[in-house]
Amino acid sequence: MPPKKNRLRASVIKKRLGTSIFTDNIVYHEVIPSTNTLAKELAAHGAAEGTLVLADEQTRGRGRSDKVWLSPAGTNLSFSIVLRPHVRVSQTFVFTMGLALAASDAVKKTTGLRPLIKWPNDLYVEGKKMAGILTEFSVRKKEVESVILGLGLNINWSPREDESMHYPATSVFAETGKKASRMELLVEILKSYEKDYRKVLAGRIDGIYKRWNELSMIKGKEVTVDLGHKTVRGTATDIDEEGALVIIKSDGRVEKIQNGEVSIRF
Ligand code: BTN
Repeated sequence: MPPKKNRLRASVIKKRLGTSIFTDNIVYHEVIPSTNTLAKELAAHGAAEGTLVLADEQTRGRGRSDKVWLSPAGTNLSFSIVLRPHVRVSQTFVFTMGLALAASDAVKKTTGLRPLIKWPNDLYVEGKKMAGILTEFSVRKKEVESVILGLGLNINWSPREDESMHYPATSVFAETGKKASRMELLVEILKSYEKDYRKVLAGRIDGIYKRWNELSMIKGKEVTVDLGHKTVRGTATDIDEEGALVIIKSDGRVEKIQNGEVSIRF
């Protein structure tokens, strides 16, 4: 458990954010298995749009594809938000894109580092992973009931390569040599995300796609995408309106990929 003065506090978040969809329902726990798991449970019981679930420590932090997400007490940011947009499943990727942009912008504003986005939604600095997003949703009659977006951002600690197991990892501290404020980053991310979320709800998504593609770490690069049952090789281009990665293969054929692990070929 982090010392009391280091803990994230709902009252401070409220004061710093002012009027925001993320301040009406803040659920804070010092220790919890996973903020995404709790946010999902709360959403299933009717939690309101904007519910923010955060923890100083997760004991079973989850990454995509059943991977673990490690983050010791009081070091980094681990939080999830509940959204209830009236959209179809195929329209949900833009919500994740907005959060990746908000996190990259907040890191840039507070530290000067500029994380790039690695499809589908990881933030990388100097070729090492600094953050990841786990998006989950529930659906009723083809309409999305709730979207849960969970962000893990390495601020003052990052796993060693043997711990992270799948990729080299980094943190703000590892890149700058300076400890950064979790509260400041959280507030900046939520402020920035709310602006984009409102744009998406108003149908203004072009700017988000443009900014996301500008920050893409793999655009124009030769990549290999592991789909589990096969690998696809080719040049990564933009992502399409449903968030699929568009690959142009060496024979000129185009393949759209919804889910996979990308590595850049050197
Ligand atoms: C990934 O890169 O695979 C996604 C990592 C997502 C981690 C965050 S931490 C907060 C939220 N709660 C979880 O259990 N996972 C997400």
